[in-house]
Amino acid sequence: MISYKDLGLVNTKEMFKKAMDGKYAIPAYNFNNMEQLQAIIQACVETKSPVILQVSKGARNYANQTMLRYMAQGAVEMAKELGFNVPIALHLDHGDSFELAKSCIETGFSSVMIDGSHLSYEENIALTKKVVEFAHKYDVTVEGELGVLAGIEDEVSADHSSYTNPDDVEDFVKKTNVDSLAISIGTSHGAYKFKVKPGESVPPLRFDILDEIEKRIPGFPIVLHGASSVPQQLIEEINANGGKMENAVGVPEDQLRKAATSAVCKINIDSDGRLAMTAAVRKVLKEKAEEFDPRKYLGPARDSLKQLYIHKIKNVLGSAGKA
Ligand code: G3H
Ligand code: 13P
Ligand code: ZN
Repeated sequence: MISYKDLGLVNTKEMFKKAMDGKYAIPAYNFNNMEQLQAIIQACVETKSPVILQVSKGARNYANQTMLRYMAQGAVEMAKELGFNVPIALHLDHGDSFELAKSCIETGFSSVMIDGSHLSYEENIALTKKVVEFAHKYDVTVEGELGVLAGIEDEVSADHSSYTNPDDVEDFVKKTNVDSLAISIGTSHGAYKFKVKPGESVPPLRFDILDEIEKRIPGFPIVLHGASSVPQQLIEEINANGGKMENAVGVPEDQLRKAATSAVCKINIDSDGRLAMTAAVRKVLKEKAEEFDPRKYLGPARDSLKQLYIHKIKNVLGSAGKA
């Protein structure tokens, strides 16, 4: 058993309490490789923001779970070296089984998501409760999910979304004893979130459902997945340099800013980071066709990612200076 506490990591309890009181949200950024992790840490130290490092099942398969844990440990040390000991949680994103959650808890994760949103309500409760009972023995926090987000990723896919039913949340939280709840109010995973024609605006998030949920479970930390905004300037840059991303759209940042001032305490962003890296890599390779040193394109990708994260922290999540 490796305790996250020995690695210098924290669970999400204190982070969420402060975020709730201070009306901001903690950034939850996914990572699969060194450059992404460096960009996250540099951005969070520079802005003095707490952070949740997210590892998906796909990331574990890609990078190796032991490697990722040591990388997170390295991130804690790197933050100190850069001059500010920001609170860092290591979180399993979209855990789909008790065994996966248990394995993460036993190898240094401070927080896990158990995503039973595709199961029946009763099965979701049973699975989430089982994970919570195990996790809480080790002071690891657990995120559950009610409602289904649309969107397709490597490990997360659903054709149709269904909004979270506010009538269920109180019962779910009480029966599972979960620490935070991911809800579905119109966000979705990936870079193609809404089917809109050029010039048309995207459907607004369902703040009415969020308000109702807040009324049913006051002061309880809410999580928003699928919260990338898909900056159009990045899409244009990708397409101008040989890419082909048509009709990619995301959630407008002003809506996320509004959500961050509510009970939403954690906002998940992955796709925007992928876009920033891809745009930077494509630009270098197109402009310098002779280049073959990975540092020459991954370096600019890392810089671009860092700027994106700084922007999100300062202007969307509001978590700057809250570490
Ligand atoms: O919500 C899912 C995250 O973006 C992780 O994606 O499963 O492709 O690693 P992934
Ligand atoms: P995006 O695809 O919108 O970045 O969402 C990421 C996410 O929800 C990770 O769990
Ligand atoms: Zn997600």
